[in-house]
Amino acid sequence: MLKRRTLLQSALAAPLLSACASGATGEAPEPYPAPVPDPDSYAQPAGAHVTHVALDLTADFQRKVLHGTATLSIEAAADAREIVLDCDTLTIQSVRTEHGSTTHTIGAVHPDHGAPLTIAITPDVRTLTIAYETSPDAGALQWLGAQQTASGKPYLFSQGESILTRSWVPTQDSPGIRQSWEARIVVPSELKTVMSAEMLTPDGEAADAGMRAYRFRMVHPVPTYLIAIAVGDLAFRSTGPRTGVWSEPSEVDAAAREFSDMERMMRVAETLYGPYRWGRYDVLVLPPSFPYGGMENPRLTFATPTIIAGDKSLVNVIAHELAHSWSGNLVTNAVWADAWMNEGFTTYIEGRISEALYGTEQVAMAYTLDWASIQTALHTLEADATRLHKLPGFDPDGGSSAIDYDKASLFLRTIESIVGRTQLDTYLRSYFDRHAFQPITAARFLADFRTHVVRGDAALEQRLMLDQWVYQPGLPSNAVEPHAAAFDRVATVLSAFTAGGPASAIPWTSWGTLERQRFLQTLPATLPQPRLDDLEHTLHLNALRNDEVLFDWLKYAIRNDYHPVEPALQDFLTRQGRLKYVSPLYRALMGRGAWGPAFARRVYTIARPTYHPVTQGAVDRVVTPA
Ligand code: BES
Ligand code: ZN
Repeated sequence: MLKRRTLLQSALAAPLLSACASGATGEAPEPYPAPVPDPDSYAQPAGAHVTHVALDLTADFQRKVLHGTATLSIEAAADAREIVLDCDTLTIQSVRTEHGSTTHTIGAVHPDHGAPLTIAITPDVRTLTIAYETSPDAGALQWLGAQQTASGKPYLFSQGESILTRSWVPTQDSPGIRQSWEARIVVPSELKTVMSAEMLTPDGEAADAGMRAYRFRMVHPVPTYLIAIAVGDLAFRSTGPRTGVWSEPSEVDAAAREFSDMERMMRVAETLYGPYRWGRYDVLVLPPSFPYGGMENPRLTFATPTIIAGDKSLVNVIAHELAHSWSGNLVTNAVWADAWMNEGFTTYIEGRISEALYGTEQVAMAYTLDWASIQTALHTLEADATRLHKLPGFDPDGGSSAIDYDKASLFLRTIESIVGRTQLDTYLRSYFDRHAFQPITAARFLADFRTHVVRGDAALEQRLMLDQWVYQPGLPSNAVEPHAAAFDRVATVLSAFTAGGPASAIPWTSWGTLERQRFLQTLPATLPQPRLDDLEHTLHLNALRNDEVLFDWLKYAIRNDYHPVEPALQDFLTRQGRLKYVSPLYRALMGRGAWGPAFARRVYTIARPTYHPVTQGAVDRVVTPA
């Protein structure tokens, strides 16, 4: 009889195999780390953990549910009597092992975490088959009716990060428990299915009458928040040998033009950090209710259509999501308290890609805007929320992007300025190889960095202030404020305007997106209405086509109780549902005397049904009933 492998050996085997198979050329991976307790998951991976998920689901657009089975491959400890999964709003119909039916219980429901799904097993069980269906209220899923899409056909998409996958896949939903996966998805034949995995049947295959089945496979073990699906009237345009865009047909050409630099972005990232390990890199442009700018689903970034500005001015979002192919998807925060390790490293890499493609002045401006957001965050957040590594008890969706993105990328740029770019590049390249397909924690990163870079150099250690950056609130004293010469020119223009000069003297049309943002973000806290009229009428701010700049203007106008902005504001809040835009605008409105809350409630009544559940949940907390 074969000796049973220990849990640790089993956990080791899968990631090692995949790292080799994917052709990494650098350093060998480290041993797979022991799991760290994840307060956002009910899983007890030391007892039994999931290694692979096989979905067989049908999309029912009438009932707005996915139904079918999830077959899980599991590894159990020698004394295991149960396995604990995460689930949220799922209806579990039955659970079987390879030996036959077994019992399960669903524990108390927590408002954010869902409930534990505990399944009785014996230590020899290797396979669980769960028959289930999702709820029309599943937190990850948005079902759009035919009237809500550009194509006039229904649409379904998912958003898993941070802890929403459990609302459509019953598994251990913790980023430290990596799982390979496959899926067969049955949809109405007029629709196409894409997922964050290799497409095995690009055109689908025959299924029940009126339906088609699509099959997918992700051979690498991934964190479950990266399992993603979209179903709709989808068209594809190639943008290069490994890249392309998907969207509803009416948008696909504009998207392909806007994202035509993707192949170059990939080459820059690969030169810096080693081969792209996921095969293809495509972008799916979603309907405007997609709650994020972009989501780094492997092989298939999901993106909001609001980044198609027509002039590539917002394609840094694509550079960012592509960068997650290394930081986040390859090396993943083990727990959400270290979300800064996903987002901050990625923001740093995004900057490096942008610098290579669009130049140093461009990124100097972006870093200067980031610096200003960090300062705002430091002045407005509780001290604990300004730490990179979060203390126990923090809300995984309560992190601030100015901290997890901008303070964290400033940390890496500070390291770069101290150890030098070449040494940091060499280190990061080896870091991604050593930790490929593994979870990472702040402590593990710091230990690794000290082993490979600091190497006991006490003077260097002192200059870097690593622990203060990672574990303490605020900004360490070695942080250097960035400077952009272009913004000095903006400041000169701004002084002339605030001294009473006419808006016609502002060289608006010669400015790019970042200069325009700088101008709007540095206006005096309030301006009298005639000055705002001059700005608006001269620069046509209500009609801005770039949503980043429009957002800055709308925020400023609300703060000034500038009513002529209302039609543009209502249009913006009802035509897209990007959380980063709508949540702060509703919040700003709720703080404006009587008119703001009334306006917010009126618009939200119209907009709410069009938003994704993530956006609804966030705005529900802001726009409270009268
Ligand atoms: N992974 C994030 C999106 C996310 C974060 C989803 C936290 C759920 C919880 C994604 O990579 C991201 O950062 N998107 C940004 C892009 C930007 C910073 C360039 C966005 O959506 O705005
Ligand atoms: Zn990100």
